[in-house]
Parts: sequence; structure tokens; C-alpha cells
Amino acid sequence: AQLNKLAKAAGLLYFGSATDNGELTDTNYVNILKDTDEFGQITPGNAQKWQYIEPSQGSFSYTSGDQIADLAKENGQLLRCHTLVWYSQLPSWVSSGSWTEATLTSVVNTHISNVVGHYKGQCYAWDVVNEALNEDGTYRTNVFYNVLGDSYFALAFKAAAAADPDAKLYYNDYNIESTGAKQAGVVKIVSLVKDAGAKIDGVGMQAHLIVGSTPSQSSQQSAMASYVAAGVTEVAYTELDIRFSSLPSTDSGLQQQAADYASVTKACLAEAACIGITIWDYTDKYSWIPNTFSGQGDALLYDFDLVKKPAWTARHYDF
Ligand code: XIL
Repeated sequence: AQLNKLAKAAGLLYFGSATDNGELTDTNYVNILKDTDEFGQITPGNAQKWQYIEPSQGSFSYTSGDQIADLAKENGQLLRCHTLVWYSQLPSWVSSGSWTEATLTSVVNTHISNVVGHYKGQCYAWDVVNEALNEDGTYRTNVFYNVLGDSYFALAFKAAAAADPDAKLYYNDYNIESTGAKQAGVVKIVSLVKDAGAKIDGVGMQAHLIVGSTPSQSSQQSAMASYVAAGVTEVAYTELDIRFSSLPSTDSGLQQQAADYASVTKACLAEAACIGITIWDYTDKYSWIPNTFSGQGDALLYDFDLVKKPAWTARHYDF
């Protein structure tokens, strides 16, 4: 059986993949992507980010985002929507604007009400705030924090809830899949948002991991349990990939990668609140890793030729 089918049989809501507009002309790629036994959920890798969706103030561009939302709808797949408030891929009119609290509040409210309103009813979940923490658990400096302080979290979650009351609202970040200072920072954000009277449903663990250095299953479970204890009703692995820090990968490395993917799957299955796993695209052909981490890669479940790797095959034993 295939991954989404296995995941659902094991009690998850979905096993999914990110995708991107440029890849959708690759017929062999799309045929696998749209197979709902394999992927029950998709996430646009770029199309809904601020720089593309509101490139200049008040002018919204939904064509690319709609292409992926429509694909999910046609295929009967859940859509995770990504992302609303993030320091990166943020147009310079936002990051370099000279804002007051009042004007930036209005910019955030306008962005979220338009974008979430446009996709109302189509998003299973929204990543409302993305990557707001430094590694030591302190708040990352960005235009939102500089102007609004920590009140921007509740502002964003309230605006998203108002625009689509049915979407699950997530805080999403990386290096929060195990316990430590950054995971404690996430607990603080969940509490902060809830104490401000806003709705937060989930924590998304990006899980951009490294072969051989993947956190232990027990540490992953402790991290998830801490988010649930802080008051979210669900957690998910939202951008999973497990890369080789040096290439080429070896046969034994590919076996280690399979074991690392297995530990994530098992951790999710062991936590009742863990509802799904999304890989950050499914084939090494379209992975973001080589462009961002020079010399690294081979992070996904299918190789460059869309052939299943040991980490795919091993899924059969994990679910
Ligand atoms: C990445 C995309 O995959 C790339 O195509 C893009 O150039 C940069 O962003 N964390 C996130 C994702 O939340 O949005 C990022 O996606 C990967 C890291």
C-alpha cells in the first residue's frame, strides 16, 4: 500500500507533500503527486507567501496559490496553507516600511483578512506565524517584532480566526521537534496567544532534519507533549525532509535515512495529537535543500528519477 493509505489506516489524518507551481508541468511528477493513496494533503511551497501574494501594498495576486488550491480540490486532497506572517520572503515594502504600531497593525490585518478570506473554506490549516524564534528561544528580530513587540502573535491569530473560523491555526517553526530552548519558546508563544484570548489550534514542526542527527523518538514525543500541555489540540510534521550533509549518499546512508524517517513516523503515531506528516516535496528532483544548503541534499523519499528510495520502502514497517 501507499503512504497516505498506510498513514490513515494507522490513525493519521493524512500523509502529504509540498509542491510548487513550476513543477506542475512535469506529468510524471504530477501523476504521483495527485495519487491520493500516496498523498492525502498538499502544501504550496511558495505561492501563498507574502512576496508573491501581496507584492505591493493592497494588490493581491492569487493565480499561483489558486493553481495549487484547485489541484487539491480536484484531487480530493487536504490543503495546508502556508504562510501569513514571516520575516522571510517578505516584500521590502513591508520589511523596510517606516511603520507605526497603528499602520503596521493595519497592514497585517489587511493582509490576513484578504488572503485568509480568499481561501476561506479551502484550507485545512494555516501556518499563521512562521519562524518567529531564535535558536535560544528568544523572539527573532523582524519588522513585526520591532514595531509591535510580542503583541503581533495574537494580532495575527485573531485576524486569521476572524477571516476563516474553520481553519486550524498553527504556529510553525524548525528545530522545535525536540526539547530545548527553542521548544520552550514555542510553549511560551502558545501561552501568549491563548492568554490574549486568541485561538491557536496547532504547532507545526517543520522538521528539516539531517541524516544521522535526527532527534530521538522520545525527545520528539516530549516536545509534542509539551505543545499539547500548553493548549493546542493538534501537532503535525509540516515540512519534513532528512538531508545528507555531504554527498554523494551511500547505501548505508540511505538505510540510516530510512531509520531516521521511521523515528519521525513512530513519534507521530505515538502522540494522539499528531495528525499528519507532510514532506517538503516528495522527490530530490524538486527539493529546496541543494539551493539553500550548498553541497547537501538527497533528503526526500523519491530520487531524482522519481524512483522510490529505501526511506519510502521502510514506511511500510513504520505505519
Ligand atoms: C522554501 C521553499 O521550498 C523554497 O522554494 C524557497 O526558495 C524558500 O523557501 N521553511 C519554510 C518554507 O517555512 O516556506 C521554506 O520553503 C523552507 C523553510
